[in-house]
This record gives sequence, structure tokens and C-alpha cells, in this order.
Amino acid sequence: MSLKALIFDLDGVLTDTAKYHYLAWKKLADELGYYFDEEINELLKGVSRINSFEIILKKNNATDKYTPEEKETLANKKNDYYKEMIEQLTPDDILEGILPFITEARNNGIKCAVASISKNAPRVLELLEISDLFDYIADAALVKQPKPHPEIFLTCAKALGFEPSECIGIEDAQAGIEAIHSAGMLSVGVNVTVTSVKPDVVLNSTAELNFEKLRKYC
Ligand code: BG6
Ligand code: MG
Repeated sequence: MSLKALIFDLDGVLTDTAKYHYLAWKKLADELGYYFDEEINELLKGVSRINSFEIILKKNNATDKYTPEEKETLANKKNDYYKEMIEQLTPDDILEGILPFITEARNNGIKCAVASISKNAPRVLELLEISDLFDYIADAALVKQPKPHPEIFLTCAKALGFEPSECIGIEDAQAGIEAIHSAGMLSVGVNVTVTSVKPDVVLNSTAELNFEKLRKYC
């Protein structure tokens, strides 16, 4: 098998939006009188919006405080804060090494896709001005089973017309690495806090992404 496609996570891989997710959850948590810090925020990486809120509630022993509808409303409030914050993003916020890496891959005929469970992914890509670099952008609204389920990575491979074994997945979150493994793809972990499955290729930052080195793994 040879490498045919690169499938990128967005938040924490193409750009550092984790800080905005943190600030938006923090604003909501403060309003509701709940404890929330950077350590809890780590647990939310790669986790869906509603499950993120459940984690915050659990940490505050408040799981049963709201109906599912109320939880939805509050999680949407966080999203309103987040949407306002990300409007500051510009192409300068693309993480180091990403543009040369994608450019080299594309020049070598490799297809690129985005596998983000963020419903804000299209807007973030637009603000970074990189939507056109991708042959396929998964629609988070259609993903039934969030990471660590492999669905979103398998959807990308299928849409591009390749076998999972011909794809490399790039992630910053443990849930994402597990999803890539379950999909049967090679996983590249960027600054992942490993709690279970270790990435096949471990990098400390996106600046270490090297196309020629990576293609040798497939
Ligand atoms: C992931 C982030 O990419 O998207 C999570 O790592 C976030 O922190 C999730 O909760 C869902 O994002 P959104 O924008 O749909 O709330
Ligand atoms: Mg991520």
C-alpha cells in the first residue's frame, strides 16, 4: 500500500482553537458557578460539545441538575461565546509547518481531508483561508458517533475513494488517536496527552511534520 491521503483533525492540529474553547467554557462555567480549569479543558479535546458539558457537570457533581433540553441550551450558549471569539482568527493562526507540509503532499498527488467533529470547522477553515486546500471536509452534523469511534475518519477515506490503509490520520487528542487506530489508519499524534493508545508516530509539534519521512510508513 502506498500513501494516498492525509486526514487532519482541525482543533489543535491546523490551528490552536483549544484556547477559545477553554475561554468560552470558562465564561459559561463562571456564570453557572462551576469550577473549570485548564486541566479539565484537556479532557474536552476531541470531545463533542454536549459531552464536553457533561464532563464539566460531572466534575462539579451536577450531572442531574438539568434536563437534556436545558443542557443543550447551555452548551449552545457556550457555542455563541466561542463563535464570537473565533472571529479573531486569521491565516497567521495556522500552526507552524502545516502549510509547507500540505503543499508538499498536494504537489505529490496526495489528497487531503479534514475530520473534525466541530460544527464550527467550516467557519474556522474559512477564516484561516485554507478551505480550498482540502479535497473533502467532513460534515460534523452528519457524524453519528463521535471520536473515539472511527466513523469520521472512515467517512473521509470513503469520500476520497481510498482504503483506510492508504490514509494517515493526524490528531492532537487521545480520542482522535483511538479513532484513527480503530479505522485501521496510521496515526500521527501531535502533542498528545496519551492516556491509553499511543500514536504510531509521536510528534511534539506540527513544526515536526515531514512529508518524506511520513510517506515511508505506508
Ligand atoms: C473538537 C474540539 O474538535 O470539536 C472539542 O477538540 C470540541 O473541544 C468539539 O468540543 C466540538 O466543537 P463545536 O465547535 O462543534 O462545539
Ligand atoms: Mg483536536
